[in-house]
Amino acid sequence: MKLNLAIIGSTGFLGRQALEIISKLKNQFNIFALSCEKNIDLLIRQAREYKSRYLQIYDLKAYKNFKESYLSKNWKVVYGDDGLLEIVAHPEVDGILFLATKTKCLNPLILAIEKRKKIALASKELIVAFGSAIFQLAKKKKVKIIPIDSELVAIHSLLSRYGTNNLKKIFLTASGGYFFAYKKNLDKITAREALQHPVWKMGTKITIDSATLINKIFEIMEASYFFDLPIKKIDVLIHPQGIIHGLIENYDGFIYGMFTKPDMKIFISYALFKMINQNYYFLEQEIKFSSLDLKLIKPNKKDFPALRLVKYLEKNTSLPTVLVGADEVAVENFLKGNIKFTDIIKIIKKTLKAHKKILNPTLGELIQTENWAKYYATNLINKMKRR
Ligand SMILES: NC(=O)c1ccc[n+]([C@@H]2O[C@H](COP(=O)([O-])OP(=O)(O)OC[C@H]3O[C@@H](n4cnc5c(N)ncnc54)[C@H](OP(=O)(O)O)[C@@H]3O)[C@@H](O)[C@H]2O)c1
Repeated sequence: MKLNLAIIGSTGFLGRQALEIISKLKNQFNIFALSCEKNIDLLIRQAREYKSRYLQIYDLKAYKNFKESYLSKNWKVVYGDDGLLEIVAHPEVDGILFLATKTKCLNPLILAIEKRKKIALASKELIVAFGSAIFQLAKKKKVKIIPIDSELVAIHSLLSRYGTNNLKKIFLTASGGYFFAYKKNLDKITAREALQHPVWKMGTKITIDSATLINKIFEIMEASYFFDLPIKKIDVLIHPQGIIHGLIENYDGFIYGMFTKPDMKIFISYALFKMINQNYYFLEQEIKFSSLDLKLIKPNKKDFPALRLVKYLEKNTSLPTVLVGADEVAVENFLKGNIKFTDIIKIIKKTLKAHKKILNPTLGELIQTENWAKYYATNLINKMKRR
């Protein structure tokens, strides 16, 4: 039996890679629905190639444009959050890949858990901002959410082999981004420079988050939710070569690591095979050992000020949600040239400091908190622009 898949964010970097893999796994997977925010040209090409039954477009203007050039009677085209909810609840959808950026797909994710669908989740902001509600519900419904991110897949695969009984610590690796060992004044970094990543090719938002290392702060929080670990058991190591993705250290002194080429297809494949409970394989992953020169470096908080924000990663509070909201606004404004690269962390920190923490927040309170953080960060930036 083939698994009927919906891919939310199929036109993005991860979405395109996922479809490339699925094109080689036609006996295992069938594409039932594809979804984007506004890139309808690519969505149409994908829907034709993969014979998708449903197409979802989040943006209203793009949806209206699409209707004018409606092309196939075989497609059902839906719009916005309601459209996504219709797809997620569809009885023929078995599994869903959540690959959209930001936090807009919260309601569809909650519904997917309620409906006990198979879920693989990449959307970092969603996990960090709403992780407490998402993972509590998943536990209640006995739904296992599969990670897609490389570092989380590394830890997922290591813990599934070695268990957690003897676990002392886990280490997530970071390439250090474009500016590792960079002596230029970071105040002067342009958006174009920050969008170059030394190891990974990724979407715009995550590339900037990697350059500031906020991405690693997000991953610490994600790992804490995915593996039910306290933050103090999670550490970060700089590893510029991008070959070691995660390590676990046990109390017996043994350290196990997961090494692969830095290719997101490997990690997406892992998640897809977990969805169908099969052993995963990826044929093209060959590391040339003759040219390996691997380094693991303890990061210095002076070079990576984002790491100081670890203290705000308090599980089951509203603080991580503030981090996500403020980061979204700060990154958008940096890309528009409104603020400096180094202002991103300052804006996030100021917003976190101004927030009155909520303990055990409800989903509604978390949604309000994210909106508040965006509003507060926007005001801070407007004041900076006036200076
Ligand atoms: N790239 C990586 O290596 C990587 C690794 C781990 C985790 N992640 C996480 O995975 C997510 C996606 O990353 P990416 O690099 O693939 O980003 P990306 O290239 O910017 O793609 C984002 C995708 O999400 C779609 N989208 C945005 N809002 C949507 C909505 N409300 N409904 C439906 N689709 C929506 C976009 O549609 P349009 O094309 O129409 O804009 C696009 O297909 C991010 O949260 C990122 O942090 C990425």
